[in-house]
Amino acid sequence: MFETTAQGLADHWHAVAFAQDLKKKQSFKTKLYGIPLLLWRDTQAQVFAVADVCAHKRAPLAITCFKQNTLTCPYHGWQYKQDGRVCHIPSSPDIDLSKLNASLHTLPIRQANGLLWVYLGKGTPPSKLPLSLADPTKGWQHVQLKKQFDTSEELLIENFMDATHTPFIHRGIIRGHGAPTQHQVQLKVASHQLLASYAETTEKIGVALQLILGKNLRIKHSDAFLLPNLVKVDYAINDVPRFMAVIACNPITEGKTEALVRLSFRFGKLNFLVKRALPWLARKVLAQDFDITQQQFANQKIFAQQKDKSIDGDMMYHKMRLIRRAAQQRQAMTPSESNFKLFL
Ligand code: FES
Ligand SMILES: [Fe+2]
Repeated sequence: MFETTAQGLADHWHAVAFAQDLKKKQSFKTKLYGIPLLLWRDTQAQVFAVADVCAHKRAPLAITCFKQNTLTCPYHGWQYKQDGRVCHIPSSPDIDLSKLNASLHTLPIRQANGLLWVYLGKGTPPSKLPLSLADPTKGWQHVQLKKQFDTSEELLIENFMDATHTPFIHRGIIRGHGAPTQHQVQLKVASHQLLASYAETTEKIGVALQLILGKNLRIKHSDAFLLPNLVKVDYAINDVPRFMAVIACNPITEGKTEALVRLSFRFGKLNFLVKRALPWLARKVLAQDFDITQQQFANQKIFAQQKDKSIDGDMMYHKMRLIRRAAQQRQAMTPSESNFKLFL
């Protein structure tokens, strides 16, 4: 098999692609922890994942023959079946393949909640995925975006959980109108996840939303981190869930992280408007996050000796790192709860 830098984090399912990006009879290459992966969907729409390396001389695989549902290596043409076993060697067609015992590294893969999840770990994968959304389709619309960032996965996870940068980096888009409001935040840490719940407030919203949803809205918001690298943001208005963001921060290689962003919303008659505006807005927000996290990552390398000066409001990022460190060592965090306040 192969080793990754992920250690115990590899023992968790990773969402590596949007399900709709891999159609029938298509293949798709990506990387996770520097390991090249090849995902493909056969003629029956069944999905497969392998480490992108030939059993013969370790060339990357390239050609997928969907007619026979086989993978072929472009170097000497070895062919492999869906289960990863070699089924044809063009230069030695008479060879006893059962004796050769050559096979690709196949990886467990699942499709759920619009995402393709792979498992890089050594043992049996966990029966449950990190995220299971009960009824993701009823009245909900989705927008999906993918963007590569020049930063580490932990700095990116931190960025997506961090509400305090929004009035500055995303001024006018997410927050930044009017005087800051005080928010009580409850932080719950469990072995595999962390949940920061912001107490209900009556924040200002746009006129269009007011027309549909009414005035004096009560807004409740939470940010969650789930092992290994997921951020989930939820917004409820007057106790009705209206908006959700699920973001997988996948370490491609050192200093390169790919974010898969799946935004889900349920604004009734406003859905069609939101569906049009949201991709543009989200791309703008991601571009702003790209710039600041790229500069931050570069600066952290230059000033590697300097320690961060964290305050109470930064507690959740510290805890997120502790959960990940524990998971790398195949240990679990002790559950805890704390409270703090933020002005946003
Ligand atoms: S390296 Fe793949 S067939 Fe030779
Ligand atoms: Fe941001």
